[in-house]
Amino acid sequence: MTARDLAVIVVAAGRGERLGANTPKAFVEILGRSILEYSLIPLQNMDALAQVIVAARASHREAALDIADSVLGHSGIRIDVVVGGETRQQSIANALAVVDSAAEVVLVHDAARAFATTKLFERVADSVRETRTACIPALQIADTIKRVEGQNILDTVDRSSLRAAQTPQGFVASELVAAYREAGEDFTDDAALMQSLGHKVFFVDGEAAAEKITTASDLARVVSRLSSGTRTGMGVDVHRFSADPTKPLYLGTIEWPGVPGLDGHSDGDAVSHAIVDALLSAAGLGDIGSNFGVDRPEFEGANGSVFLTETIALLEDAGFRPVNVSVQVIGNRPKISTQRVATERALSELIGAPVSFGATTTDGLGFLGNDEGVAAVASALIIDSEARLTS
Ligand code: CTP
Ligand code: MG
Repeated sequence: MTARDLAVIVVAAGRGERLGANTPKAFVEILGRSILEYSLIPLQNMDALAQVIVAARASHREAALDIADSVLGHSGIRIDVVVGGETRQQSIANALAVVDSAAEVVLVHDAARAFATTKLFERVADSVRETRTACIPALQIADTIKRVEGQNILDTVDRSSLRAAQTPQGFVASELVAAYREAGEDFTDDAALMQSLGHKVFFVDGEAAAEKITTASDLARVVSRLSSGTRTGMGVDVHRFSADPTKPLYLGTIEWPGVPGLDGHSDGDAVSHAIVDALLSAAGLGDIGSNFGVDRPEFEGANGSVFLTETIALLEDAGFRPVNVSVQVIGNRPKISTQRVATERALSELIGAPVSFGATTTDGLGFLGNDEGVAAVASALIIDSEARLTS
C-alpha cells in the first residue's frame, strides 16, 4: 500500500457569474448530482489520499461538507471545508492554512473541472513525487491562434509551443505553502504563482474530460454527453385490501393509520413494488418476481424498504444509479396528501435520488373505484454511473 502522502484542495468558492445559474457553480446539479460531487468522485479510489480540503462560499459551507462526506466520508480520508475568499488564489490560501503537515504532495483542483479522471490526478501526483518539482496537466491547442490588435489580425502564433493549462496542478506541499506566503499579486493559476518566485514547473498530458465548465453552453455540452448514459423504466403493482381489518397498511415503506392493509406475499406495499419494477426494468435486470420471487422466504412479509435497498444494490452491481423516480397511487384510500412529504422523504433516502409521489382516483370506475384495492404506477430514470466525459 502506498503511504498516504497526498492532500487535494478542491476550490468551489466562485460565484459562477459566467454560468449565470441562480446558485454558485459548484452546486449546480447535472442529472441529480452537483458539480462539486462529480469533482470529488475521482478521489474515491486514490490510495495515497490523506486529506481533501474543499473551499466553498460561506453560504454553502454546510452543503459542501454534506457532499464531501457523502462521497468520501467512508474512506478514512480527512475532510475539511474552509470558507473561500474573494479570488481563487485567496480561496486556495485559506485551504492551505489547514493542510495537514504530513502531506508531502498537494494537488489544487477546480471543482469546475468536474470530470477530470482519477488517472489525471495520479499522473500529476506521480510526476511531483518522482521529480520533487511542480507539475500541471496541459493540453495541445487544436485551433489556429492569432495575435490581434483592435479588429486587426497581427500574426499567427506557432501553436506547437503552446499548451492550455488545466487542473489538478501538483506541488511539493511545503513549497506551495511557502510560495503562497510570499506571493504579492494575484495569478490565474498556481503554476504562474510558483514561477513568479523562480520555481520550475513541468507538465504532463491533460485530458479533454478535465475541461472547465464556465458558460451555459459548456454545461449544456456536459449534460448532453452524460444524458447518453440514461435509461428509463416503468412498473405497475396492484394489491387487494386485506379481509383482516387489523392488518396495518404500508405504502412507500411507511404506515398509513386508519386504512386496512393490503394482501400479498410481502406487506403488499404496491408503491415500493412499482418503484422496484421501474428501477429493475430501466436497468434491464428483470422484474420483482424474477429477483425476489415467492420462492424466497426471506421476503415474506418484508417491508418495501428491504426490496428497495436490495434493488439499489443490484443496480449498483450492474453499474447504474437512479436519477429520479416518480410514483402515483391509483385508488380511493388512503389520502396521500396526509403523508406525501414524509413518504417522498423516506423513499428518496432509500433510493438516493429525488422521488415524487402523487395520487389519483378512477372516478368510481372499476375495482379501484369500488375500493377493492390499491394500484401504483412508477417510472424511473437511471444513469450509467460510470457515464463521464471520455478523454
Ligand atoms: N473559485 C474559488 N474562489 C473564488 C473564485 C473561484 O474557489 N473566489 C473557484 C471556482 O469555484 C472554480 C475555480 O475556482 O471551481 C475556477 O474558477 P471559475 O471557473 O472562474 O469559477 P467562478 O469564479 O465560480 O466563475 P465566474 O468567474 O464565471 O464567476
Ligand atoms: Mg472566476
